[in-house]
Amino acid sequence: MPQGPSSTKEIPETGLIPKHIAIIMDGNGRWAQTRYMPRIAGHKQGVETVRGVIKACIERNIPYLTLFAFSSENWRRPTEEVTSLMQLFLGALEHEITRLHENGICFKVIGDLSKFEPKIREFIHTGEQLTAENKRLTFTIAANYGGRWDIMQAIRKMMAQSAELPLNFEEENLTQYLALSYAPEPDLFIRTGGEYRISNFLLWQLAYTELYFTDTLWPDFDEHELERAIQSYQQRERRFGCTSEQIQVAG
Ligand code: IPE
Ligand code: IPE
Ligand code: MG
Repeated sequence: MPQGPSSTKEIPETGLIPKHIAIIMDGNGRWAQTRYMPRIAGHKQGVETVRGVIKACIERNIPYLTLFAFSSENWRRPTEEVTSLMQLFLGALEHEITRLHENGICFKVIGDLSKFEPKIREFIHTGEQLTAENKRLTFTIAANYGGRWDIMQAIRKMMAQSAELPLNFEEENLTQYLALSYAPEPDLFIRTGGEYRISNFLLWQLAYTELYFTDTLWPDFDEHELERAIQSYQQRERRFGCTSEQIQVAG
């Protein structure tokens, strides 16, 4: 899969349908707490939302979907919640991979996997291998992911692989090692749950992404909410540093 052009180097081709949607799935805990349920019940319901969003992306011919499931900072949560999240992740991997494969979905996980228990790593590896050739949708889960971690690991890889690299190396020397190098930069970023922050998600890749925030909590996010986000995206004028006039002449 070729990497899309860098949006700070050249103007990427854009269309009405976003090629890549990246989502911070936030608000599971609050969804559960307003129902006097344990936070993990919200995370479980959140998995159902993931199913619906995958289906909606396929129906709209959106080729890339990336979801933030667990940040490098989420280890700071109470042990009980972290343990439950790991169990939920393991269960989802165990039960959903075959279904993803049957639906022609290519499954990938980005993040520092070394912190996960061996069984989780094994399921991820098997799932990625099984679905590697699928073309309908590339579905990426960011797990133990952090934007700064991503940039740091890319620099380390780049330096390890090219000892003679000049100090004035170029963007493309680095970007090939970023965790999402197989995907174009996201066109549309969505954050549910009412917070207006990036929380160390795709720091490099979001340089020119259109941002959409909604108060809807992730377990309540559905196809209609996704449609609303896409409609908002379709009304934006993506200028990439140019003037409005330049964009209109080119378009
Ligand atoms: C997002 O929901 C899921 C994870 C971070 C794992 P939260 O658990 O952050 O839900 P709120 O923000 O506390 O409601
Ligand atoms: C961001 O949500 C991470 C994920 C959705 C996985 P958080 O709920 O952890 O973000 P903060 O802590 O409110 O910024
Ligand atoms: Mg949260």
